[in-house]
Amino acid sequence: MSNIPVTIPYFTDDEAKAVEKALASGWVAQGPMVAKFEEAIAGHEGIGYGVATTSCTSALHLAMVAKGLKAGMDAIVPAFTFVATANAVVETGATPIFVDIYRETFNINIENLEDILKNQYEKKGDSYINKKTGNTLWGIVPVHEFGLCCNINKVNELAKQYQIQVVEDAACALGAMVSGTHQGAFGNPSCVSFHPRKSITTGEGGMVLTDDAALAKRMKELRTHGSTVSADARHQGKGFLLPEFNEAGYNYRMTDIQGAIGLEQVKKLDYIIEEKIKRAALYNELIKAQLPELITPMVPEGYFHTYQSYVCMLDIEKLGLTSIKEGGEFRNILLQRLEDKGIATRQGTHAVHMLGYYRNTYGYVPEDYPNAYACDHLSITLPLYIQMSDEEQRLVVQTMREEIDAM
Ligand SMILES: Cc1ncc(COP(=O)(O)O)c(C=O)c1O
Repeated sequence: MSNIPVTIPYFTDDEAKAVEKALASGWVAQGPMVAKFEEAIAGHEGIGYGVATTSCTSALHLAMVAKGLKAGMDAIVPAFTFVATANAVVETGATPIFVDIYRETFNINIENLEDILKNQYEKKGDSYINKKTGNTLWGIVPVHEFGLCCNINKVNELAKQYQIQVVEDAACALGAMVSGTHQGAFGNPSCVSFHPRKSITTGEGGMVLTDDAALAKRMKELRTHGSTVSADARHQGKGFLLPEFNEAGYNYRMTDIQGAIGLEQVKKLDYIIEEKIKRAALYNELIKAQLPELITPMVPEGYFHTYQSYVCMLDIEKLGLTSIKEGGEFRNILLQRLEDKGIATRQGTHAVHMLGYYRNTYGYVPEDYPNAYACDHLSITLPLYIQMSDEEQRLVVQTMREEIDAM
């Protein structure tokens, strides 16, 4: 029986020592370590400012609020993403409008996006109004899924044409690039995650990256209850009065214990990505040779994929299956059989329009977004982490081969 998890974070003694130091300093809430971590991440991605938060979900919410998203507005969100992308929109009081994806890249489908912009909205004054609900179109939340950027240049072009906002969900995409430009530097606020399934981790945690100094300042205020003085500055100072609060904000602060871990993790980021790229190449090779029923991840020309996750699709035609539903049933049995052999896998992510809250609130049916539905049923995330050996990867592919043959 093997014991291969879907991922394992990569820590050395450095993180433990950094935590000890943070504890010994007596400063465990947000402070100097978080500020240094923000600088380090922003520096790595080639961007002006980082605003650390408790998670990518809170980072998304913070960026959306700071960019004016609120009740009575629509935000366009890919239908195949982790539910947090849409939940952050709902949290602002606005309505998520789903758009389908490409099966090959799992990212936002530009033709479908153009179609929604053109047909579901009409121009009134300076705004685009939803013809059915009367909501104002606020903008787009493209997702860079599994470590591969979406066609952000096209998204930006459309946003410019329609004069709408873009907040990027880069939860999985720290370090990803298009034509040598890092995510975060595409001209929009971009939100990354430091959850343990991501390339580097602080346990939980997130960050908004932006080049806009005023936006960074506003988000820093909003993450500290709307305070005009940062928690750090207030504790450093000797004043006894609380500062002014001009807005109703949140507590989205990362702790200095997490900041200290993050500062060590960011030093390992390039190495982790490099190693994951090598492991992804080995999977590509093994699958090509042994598993023609699997479609390996696609990397369009000019895109730098960081393989936060290595996600394949089942090829139902090659399996002789006739429907997505049948393919989904096959996939689930296969993944269960792998789990029984000690090999953990996951579905890639889910089709959000098919989840209870979204189905029940907005009345969606699976076929509304056929590619998201297909990826929900047919995607498979294989185990991938840098401590993994070639032999373990060979075992994953060999076991899949054996189980498919036995089904
Ligand atoms: C695309 C996407 N967006 C948002 C999130 C939420 O990130 P966090 O867990 O840091 O809130 C995730 C997490 O898996 C994600 O994959």
